[in-house]
Amino acid sequence: MPRVFSGIQPTGDLHLGNLLGAVRNWVQDQHDADSFYCIVDLHALTVPKAPGEVGAFSLEMAQTLLACGLDPDVCTLFVQSHVSEHAELAWLVQCVTAMGELNRMTQFKDKSARQGGKQDLVSVGLYTYPALQAADILLYDTDRVPVGEDQRQHIELTRDVAERFNARYGETFVLPEATIPRAGARVMDLQEPTDKMSKSATSDAGVVYLMDDLAVTAKKFKRAVTDSDGTVAFDPVAKPGVSNLLSILGAATGRSPEDLADEYSQYGPLKVDTADAVVALLEPIQARFRELVEDPAATNELLAIGAEKARAVAADVYDRAVRNVGLLPRPVL
Ligand code: AMP
Ligand code: TRP
Repeated sequence: MPRVFSGIQPTGDLHLGNLLGAVRNWVQDQHDADSFYCIVDLHALTVPKAPGEVGAFSLEMAQTLLACGLDPDVCTLFVQSHVSEHAELAWLVQCVTAMGELNRMTQFKDKSARQGGKQDLVSVGLYTYPALQAADILLYDTDRVPVGEDQRQHIELTRDVAERFNARYGETFVLPEATIPRAGARVMDLQEPTDKMSKSATSDAGVVYLMDDLAVTAKKFKRAVTDSDGTVAFDPVAKPGVSNLLSILGAATGRSPEDLADEYSQYGPLKVDTADAVVALLEPIQARFRELVEDPAATNELLAIGAEKARAVAADVYDRAVRNVGLLPRPVL
């Protein structure tokens, strides 16, 4: 079975775009691959966080992912900081990564610009973030990394530094490949259908959060922006709002948006059916989430098992890297 690895930052409140564009692929992948899913809490620290915030969001993210269908009997779900080899390998990776490479990373440029580009506010951690991400991936002899298009550059960098490491120290790391979901998996904002649904949107009216009250969810769909042309067709360029509804309805029901378009002649029923389909998708997720929140110890226990499974792989790969670099072997204490 191929090895799959992906990571998600422990930020609060996943939305429908995260579910349909990322988490659902993870849930499907877990049956076809040996999958490792990591809550990357160390990455979250690269921008300022209040004490305790990252830990609380890590638990909530684990509960959300479990509620969405990740099965800890099938995949390995764990928290990055629980497996210390991530930070340790990140150092070795940083030592074969060029500043010039990190300077070219668009995520760093965007995120540092958002902090006003002020050198004294932008952390060194934000700068070396891609080296930690490369370490995450390389520690598991990963074949495939399911990520969004925005992460392609980081996976390319991971391949480059792995090749360099292998050339310098001998065959050590497997070269991973990014698997990017097809364009249809992009969920757009319900109010600004030419923008990606994102929690940094200026208004929440177009963003469907997984844990929103379901009456609010239905209302957001009823108020979704369409157009004044009055015909239902799947044409994301000419009819972004209607096409987004068709895509979401298709993703929620397993049908193609083109086929669905043929079944509607008016926007009203399309909105109602899309709202109903999303509510039906989210209802069991919310119910399961509520159960998990009642019993945080149960999730912590699953994360402990996940960390142990992850460490069993990561420790071997880390040892291999240290051996190939040729550090003096650690004394057995
Ligand atoms: P982010 O919250 O932007 O870091 O994204 C977490 C994951 O969700 C990444 O794999 C993204 O590619 C995916 N994602 C975020 N927003 C959307 C969206 N509107 N449509 C589809 N996938 C998305
Ligand atoms: N940088 C990724 C993001 O912003 C999160 C991430 C960290 C990741 N480590 C990873 C994704 C390893 C895939 C593999 O979405």
